[in-house]
Amino acid sequence: MSHIFLYGPSGSGKSTIGKRLADNLNLPFVDSDQVLEMNAGKSIPQIVEEQGMPKVRDWETAALNQIINDKESVIALGGGALLRDENRKLVDNSGTVILLAAELPTLVDRLQNDVNPRPLLAGDLRSILASYLDDRAGHYSSFFLKVQVDGKTPEQIANHIQIMLGRHHLSAMGDYDAVVQGNGVDKLGEMLKVRGLQNPIVVTDKNVSKFHTDRVVAALRVADYESRVIAIPAGEEHKNLDTVSLLWKSFLENGLDRKSTAIALGGGVIGDMTGFAAATYMRGIAWVGVPTTLLSMVDASIGGKTGFDLPEGKNLIGSFHPPKLVLADPSLLLTLPEAELISGMAEVVKHGVISDPELFELCSRGLNWVKDNLEEVVKRAIAVKIRVIEEDPYEKGIRAALNLGHTVGHAIELVSKFKLRHGEAVAIGTVVEARYAERIGIATNGSADKIGKTMSALGLPIHMPDQLPREEIIRTMRVDKKKSAKAIRFALPVEIGKVELVEVSDLEDVLE
Ligand SMILES: NC(=O)c1ccc[n+]([C@@H]2O[C@H](COP(=O)([O-])OP(=O)(O)OC[C@H]3O[C@@H](n4cnc5c(N)ncnc54)[C@H](O)[C@@H]3O)[C@@H](O)[C@H]2O)c1
Repeated sequence: MSHIFLYGPSGSGKSTIGKRLADNLNLPFVDSDQVLEMNAGKSIPQIVEEQGMPKVRDWETAALNQIINDKESVIALGGGALLRDENRKLVDNSGTVILLAAELPTLVDRLQNDVNPRPLLAGDLRSILASYLDDRAGHYSSFFLKVQVDGKTPEQIANHIQIMLGRHHLSAMGDYDAVVQGNGVDKLGEMLKVRGLQNPIVVTDKNVSKFHTDRVVAALRVADYESRVIAIPAGEEHKNLDTVSLLWKSFLENGLDRKSTAIALGGGVIGDMTGFAAATYMRGIAWVGVPTTLLSMVDASIGGKTGFDLPEGKNLIGSFHPPKLVLADPSLLLTLPEAELISGMAEVVKHGVISDPELFELCSRGLNWVKDNLEEVVKRAIAVKIRVIEEDPYEKGIRAALNLGHTVGHAIELVSKFKLRHGEAVAIGTVVEARYAERIGIATNGSADKIGKTMSALGLPIHMPDQLPREEIIRTMRVDKKKSAKAIRFALPVEIGKVELVEVSDLEDVLE
């Protein structure tokens, strides 16, 4: 069981934020004080008056014992509930505690108009609260995960907590959780069980298989799943109908029926093909994404796009078929070749430029910092993609923002005949597009340089190779976007954290 406990002083917003968080994560919300009062048959002020504070703590322990054994929930705790060691052990063993910290003026402001009776705060509210905060300063500071709530809305705080915990629920296309958790892959079996997923088969590629299938098979076995693995050759050149057909046949040979589950353990190539095979096998079976590249964690595994390539072009055949769960475990990235990690960072920087300046700043610390902080990087970057696709799942509008750097980048990738990796081409494309945005006066001066510096600090190229013919890049941009229309829509950075969609008709101006 992995509950989320919200803790902190009265007035810090545990219930309001807890309800919002529970709603976002599609989990039940529980107020531990309400359970306590229901069990006791009287209110907390009544218990204090009749039997004293120690009795409240007894009821609190009983309530917690009850709550933690119920289904996974977001739980708001009473303001001093974890002062008792026994209670603290109970919550530590059954989930994660987030401390909501607030400055005195914020608490006074909220509590002075509070309609709930709070006899413990009766009298001079400001000085009583001040002495509470003082007495409990050591206790509250002993919590590792903390969010400062002053000046923020409940939605902002809930989102912040979700990023910290790496937990999301998507509902705009299909209903599924996306979880970022270090070593989470060891819990994969349990995660499938609680979601009622059946009869799993693992699809992976031969590179990933060497490092990670034993671990995944072991995790499935813990939850009593019989484990079968299909390992196909690695690489984009195998993302084709022959391989998809091989997957369909293997599903049949392994006795998969309509209730079975395909697990995609690999990069974007494995995710796209497994998702597509699942979308079409017996008119659609469940699939779960366990991405193993940085690019697939922060981008490809989220959003429900599945498919494969034709000799005529990439991703020409496909369908929208959202997974039932995405589990991104950054520990799987430790075996990823450095060049793949760097390539994936181009998408991470892109996500920062689209809507997370703080993520962008983290990226500018360079590759070594990133390597030491992969979990934080994945948690922030995945959140950007989720936010965008939840708003626009079928790419009718803002999802096009994710194309930042890709209109130019994809053309460069093709014209280089894939000598440049996808991420390298996107890095160059992002800088080229940012420079164009500055030239036409929609971007703040210096944004392109900032983006270029950050990409370089990660080991990514930022200049178009001289040997690539410009005319061919321009022609490829037109063909690639399959546009008969004169103008192509670009996502252009306006500043770090904001992009704008702009129709561009003269593509030569973009490259200059
Ligand atoms: N569906 C979408 O929304 C979406 C979005 C972006 C990209 N994509 C697709 O994703 C694909 C690219 O994905 P990718 O960059 O992950 O490439 P990939 O799947 O080819 O993986 C890159 C290489 O890394 C190896 N590898 C993967 N994980 C590893 C690990 N943990 N340890 C060691 N080696 C590992 C793979 O075997 C492969 O050789 C493209 O086909 C692209 O079209 C899809």
